[in-house]
Amino acid sequence: MGMLDTLLNGSNGSSNLNAEAIREAILQVQDTDIQKTLGELEAVHNIEIHGSTVKIYLLLYQPLHFVAENINLACKKAVERIAPSAKVEVYVQEKLPKIPHNRPLAQVKNLVAIASGKGGVGKSTIAANLAAALAKKGAVVGLIDADIHGPSVPTLFDLEEEQLRGEKTEDGTFIGHPMEKYGVKLVSMGFVMGRDQAAIMRGPMQAGYLNTFIEQIAWGELDYLLFDLPPGTGDIHLTMSQRIPLTGAIVVTTPQNLALADVRRGISMFSRVNIETLGVIENMSYYALPDGSRDYIFGQGGGERIAKEANVPFLGEVPLNISIRQGGDEGMPVVMNDKAPLQQRAFMDLAAKLAAEVRKKNARTVAAPTVQISL
Ligand SMILES: Nc1ncnc2c1ncn2[C@@H]1O[C@H](COP(=O)(O)OP(=O)(O)O)[C@@H](O)[C@H]1O
Ligand SMILES: [Mg+2]
Repeated sequence: MGMLDTLLNGSNGSSNLNAEAIREAILQVQDTDIQKTLGELEAVHNIEIHGSTVKIYLLLYQPLHFVAENINLACKKAVERIAPSAKVEVYVQEKLPKIPHNRPLAQVKNLVAIASGKGGVGKSTIAANLAAALAKKGAVVGLIDADIHGPSVPTLFDLEEEQLRGEKTEDGTFIGHPMEKYGVKLVSMGFVMGRDQAAIMRGPMQAGYLNTFIEQIAWGELDYLLFDLPPGTGDIHLTMSQRIPLTGAIVVTTPQNLALADVRRGISMFSRVNIETLGVIENMSYYALPDGSRDYIFGQGGGERIAKEANVPFLGEVPLNISIRQGGDEGMPVVMNDKAPLQQRAFMDLAAKLAAEVRKKNARTVAAPTVQISL
């Protein structure tokens, strides 16, 4: 079996499946994130027919964690309509950009900054939940607490007593190991010095520490590295744009007009340094009342309006909710809490939207993809 079986049955002749019809059907399958067909995306690498087995080899833009299953099913259905008794196997390979080896974080596929115009809008809460949601879906995820002035990752992940550990390499440089919780690799100023010490650091020092987090941490291969940025615009944001090629930024806001003005500033700051805003998330959008209705305490639809005005995607609303706040205080992001299924769902959906925007961005920018097999 296996190799020999493949050679004997080959795709030539012996099968009574209609190879051309199957190919046509597969070319029409939609990549629902990118909203193009597999044909348009030149995603069909090969189709082999061995007896009654159809093997489909696809090349798709990563990250695939949220869409792999959908595309797999859509391909199976497409073949089933033509050949109901065929056994379909779908193999997916990722299209990867050529990353220069000397680029910082060369083993990281997607770098996403989580930003906000001002503090207290829930940026860190959302960064923690997005990171945990992506990891829960199978992605390899890192999170840098780049809010070096006011680190919150130690609290959000219940790692307040932890100290960054590492070792010296032969040439004497220190290489640190990220902490790990809920499948997320974590680095924070809170693991290096106390919160109070961190608070008195000057801007240039903060940027220096961010460089250390980028260059002297053994991140390894990651699907995503998220950055929980400090609020506003400053040295750190400049460092980010100069040092690393971000895939893009997510801007978190609350619904009020004042917060929305900051969002506009945030989006235009990013575009000035050539960082694309991948989406706006509105937090504390409403309070869900016991009868199922929603109280839009701070007004309705502001985040979505701002996103439309700035021509960037709106990723969704997060309600004001006690289990979200408790999750933060207790160090377990609500997306990990099975007793809060609605909040869990909300963050899984947001993570799926983020993944879709990252894929779209990759489809826009990965001009000459290198193929890496990851069956
Ligand atoms: N959707 C939400 N529902 C309830 N509390 C929230 C929500 N989002 C954030 N919070 C709480 O608001 C406070 C500020 O959130 P945080 O993530 O630290 O904001 P930022 O990082 O923007 O300063 C925290 O106590 C957090 O638990
Ligand atoms: Mg914060």
